[in-house]
Amino acid sequence: MSTARVHRRDEAGPLTDEAELLALEALYCSHGDTVHYTEPPKIFESCEGSFLFDAKGRPYLDLQMWYSAVNFGYANPRLNDAAHQQLERLPQLASQYLHREKIELAAHIARDAARKFGLKGRVHFNVGGSQAVEDSLKLVRNFKKGKSLMFAFEGGYHGRTLGASAITSSYRYRRRYGHFGDRAHFVPFPYHFRGPKGMSKEEYGHHCVKQFERLFESEYNGVWDPKAGEAEYAAFYVEPIQGTGGYIIPPRNYFVELKRVLDKYGILLVVDEIQMGVYRTGKLWSIEHFGVQPDVIVFGKAITNGLNPLAGLWAREELINPTMFPPGSTHSTFNANPMGTAVALETMKMLDEVDYASMVADKGAYFLEGLRELQRRYPIIGDVDGLGLALRMEICEPHDSFTPSKTLVDRMVDEALKADLEVDGKRYGLVLDIGGYHKNVVTLAPSLHISRDEMDLAIELLDQVLRRVTKN
Ligand SMILES: Cc1ncc(COP(=O)(O)O)c(C=O)c1O
Repeated sequence: MSTARVHRRDEAGPLTDEAELLALEALYCSHGDTVHYTEPPKIFESCEGSFLFDAKGRPYLDLQMWYSAVNFGYANPRLNDAAHQQLERLPQLASQYLHREKIELAAHIARDAARKFGLKGRVHFNVGGSQAVEDSLKLVRNFKKGKSLMFAFEGGYHGRTLGASAITSSYRYRRRYGHFGDRAHFVPFPYHFRGPKGMSKEEYGHHCVKQFERLFESEYNGVWDPKAGEAEYAAFYVEPIQGTGGYIIPPRNYFVELKRVLDKYGILLVVDEIQMGVYRTGKLWSIEHFGVQPDVIVFGKAITNGLNPLAGLWAREELINPTMFPPGSTHSTFNANPMGTAVALETMKMLDEVDYASMVADKGAYFLEGLRELQRRYPIIGDVDGLGLALRMEICEPHDSFTPSKTLVDRMVDEALKADLEVDGKRYGLVLDIGGYHKNVVTLAPSLHISRDEMDLAIELLDQVLRRVTKN
């Protein structure tokens, strides 16, 4: 089979083409990424707004938007235009030189943080989320004079580079590679739906903080030296709303109480906003819902709407000033690439001009009501919840609406991808993502620009999928 043949649309039509492409993929692409989580893997040809399209032009309503990297819709005209303009003017520049978009973007993020948190700080860029997490580890370890131990949450996800996977709770991501860094001490997240019965959400939040604080009660609990007044741990890595962990929204009191403990024992708060940032929850940073000051914020994904990748971190001045973190402390060829910073800067301007806070809150409430309505009709939906347009639907066994059912959720994803759902005589597919501690949660991250009609369509398509998997 020649490559030329693969690219040509011959009389056999796109279907043959797709089969050939899949045959090539099977032979020549590494299967070490996540493509083969779905069998057979799916090929898409184009995208617009809330939809992906396959080779036959069939629309798939995307309810996960590239794991929340495309918050502003596929082919967003304003952001695409910013990319085109940068492509014409200054698309390439070694990261040892400056370009105006990098400077303006850093200033924008730092001024916003100063306004919101009352803290001076600076921004450092990198390419992907995991790399930015690596940079944050360097920053923290440097500031804490080489202390390398971190707290992180059970169910937390911070990426799959070696340092990031050491603070990501799943052993699965480390199993093949041995240890390259210190594994975090993993602390339970206040996951109320699966917490002990008989406690309100807030009571459970308080209980979780108390359990964490126990670690500091005596030196024999392994983290605190009362004589030196020093903890062995440098920072606590948190996702305010757990992403891969299943879009879990903590009790409102949790982070304020946790931060009191961290401050008391001199432990930094590093907030990973890679998935929940950039208005997914209705705020630029999801930690803004919880009234605490972060020491470091790590961001990525939607800041460029999934165009040229850009990630980075904001840190308090004390940690990142040029004496503490001098030139050459870290570097990557593409770290503040002009294409990425130009689009991210345009994203920031757009966020200033449009009232995303109310828009996302309104749409989130509407979508959540649709999910609640489905929950009333389908006992397999054990829990639904949402903050802004970060929404969850936890799929369980029908007899108790609680025992996790990965089997049912896997079937839902398969049915959704068949693209034979039908509404008003038109056929659709549905793109869903699975998360959660038991891989039984449909984690919904629709475009923030999704329309009411598209939300109605989403609920109708989910209804059809649920009907199929609950039919014996
Ligand atoms: C919360 C969080 N942190 C870090 C990462 C890693 O980012 P990347 O996949 O861009 O390396 C992700 C990716 O899903 C994430 O959701």
